Amino acid sequence: MKFPCRLDKFISHLAELPRSKARAAIKRQDVSVNDETVTAFDFQIKAQDSVVFQGEQLAFLGKRYFMLHKPAGYVCANVDELHPTVFDLLDEPNMADFHIAGRLDIDTTGLVLITNDGDWSHRITSPKHQKLKTYLVETLEPLTSQALTQLREGVQLHNEKELTRPAIADALESYSLRLSISEGKYHQVKRMLAAVGNKVVELHREQVANIVLDENLQSGEYRALTDAEIKI
Ligand code: URA
Repeated sequence: MKFPCRLDKFISHLAELPRSKARAAIKRQDVSVNDETVTAFDFQIKAQDSVVFQGEQLAFLGKRYFMLHKPAGYVCANVDELHPTVFDLLDEPNMADFHIAGRLDIDTTGLVLITNDGDWSHRITSPKHQKLKTYLVETLEPLTSQALTQLREGVQLHNEKELTRPAIADALESYSLRLSISEGKYHQVKRMLAAVGNKVVELHREQVANIVLDENLQSGEYRALTDAEIKI
C-alpha cells in the first residue's frame, strides 16, 4: 500500500471490505483519524496516522517478509484452480498484497520467500543481482565427473542463447548433489541436469542469498524473517 492513501481505500483494504461498504461506514461517522471523525472519502491518510474504524485501531502492518518450508503438491501462485497454493499455508492479515520472491515448481520442496516488498523481491530475483540459490538435487542416473564439470562451467539449455552462468556443483553421493546457481530461469535446475544427460527426481531449495531454510520449520510451516535475514 502506498501513502498518502485515500481514506476509503485504506478502510476497504485493512478492514477487508468492498469500497462501497467502507464509504458507507465513513458516511455513518464510524471512522476517525488521529481522534477526529472524518467523513471525506478522499481524505489522505499518511503511514503514521492512527485510524479507528468502529472502535478498533486499524494497523498498517508495513512491509513484511516470511520464509516458508514448501511441501510438494503446493503451487507458488496467489490463486490456482486445481491445486492448493503456498498462500493456503499462511495465516496472516492482508495477504492479497503479497507475492513470492522466486517460485518453485509444484514438486519442488524447501525455501520459499514471501513478501509485500517489491523492491526487496526484485533484489532477490533479478539476474543483475546474482543472488545464489542452493538446491539439493537427487538424480535418476549416477553423476559423472564430466557432468559436474559441465554444470560448473555452464551448460547449453534448450531454447536459450547463452550458456548458464558458472555454478557450484558438489557431489554428495552417486545420485545426489548440492547445486548453487545465480540465475532463475524457468525450470533451470531440471533443465541443467537434462542438458548433461541426467534427470532430477527430487529437488529441495536450502538457501537463497544469505537466507537459509530454518531447520526448525517442518514442511508446511513458516516464520517471519529476522532483521538480519531481511538485509540482503
Ligand atoms: N529449478 C527447477 O527446475 N525447479 C525449481 O523448482 C527450482 C529451480
